[in-house]
Amino acid sequence: MKKIIAANWKMNPESAKEAEKIVKFLVESYTEKNVQLILFPPFVYFCRLRDELDNDADKFDWGAQDIFWEESGAYTGEISSAMLKSFWVQYVIIGHSERRWKLGETDEIINKKIKTALENGITPILAVGEKEKGDSVEKFLEDQLCKGLEDLDEKQISKIIIAYEPVWAIGTGSADNPEDTIKAVRIIKDIIGKMVGKEITDKIPVLYGGSVTSENARDFLSEKEINGALVGGASLNKEEFLKILNIAEKL
Ligand code: PGA
Repeated sequence: MKKIIAANWKMNPESAKEAEKIVKFLVESYTEKNVQLILFPPFVYFCRLRDELDNDADKFDWGAQDIFWEESGAYTGEISSAMLKSFWVQYVIIGHSERRWKLGETDEIINKKIKTALENGITPILAVGEKEKGDSVEKFLEDQLCKGLEDLDEKQISKIIIAYEPVWAIGTGSADNPEDTIKAVRIIKDIIGKMVGKEITDKIPVLYGGSVTSENARDFLSEKEINGALVGGASLNKEEFLKILNIAEKL
């Protein structure tokens, strides 16, 4: 399985010009093929980035930071799956802790978004993780996975990606350690295994996210059970992000 490196830019950078600089730098400096690189820019930059990059846009995969569950209609401010697909979006982050805890997104909403993404051929990256250090990892993961994946059949579950992101590690500079991440990955696989069996579960990629940098990326990515990283802050610093990509590339 190729390592997946996903760049979650969140509500950054401040201008489309800055966004373009990061992407153009990546086009020029990152030419290898051993990593699956997925970029998640804010919605408003898609148009410009796709236009500016033209054919080079195909060098990466593109993802959205959110999706709405209805196809169209009177939903002010929302973005539909069809709109995302018109910009070649193939992935979407769903259940990110910033949406769960800062914007009140519930497991029910997350479940609807996952279903909509799958129905429209967009791969959901479902983010899960405990809130505080010391919280019961099992309890959080069981709850978020069972509710988030409710009523999905085996075929649907086989298409998702999971990102384990302990909330206390996000944007704090204090990453989890690989041993505890592996324990969490095993818990995730056990929970999903009970839903769809081991064979399908083994093929579901699980990424780690939370203060990944070029300093700690190797520790996580060299573990077989960790299939990649969801990188926030460090993905906005182009030189730093390139270092992470090169680490993943050479593993
Ligand atoms: P971080 O963010 O790398 O800045 O901690 C990760 C994420 O929120 O996906």
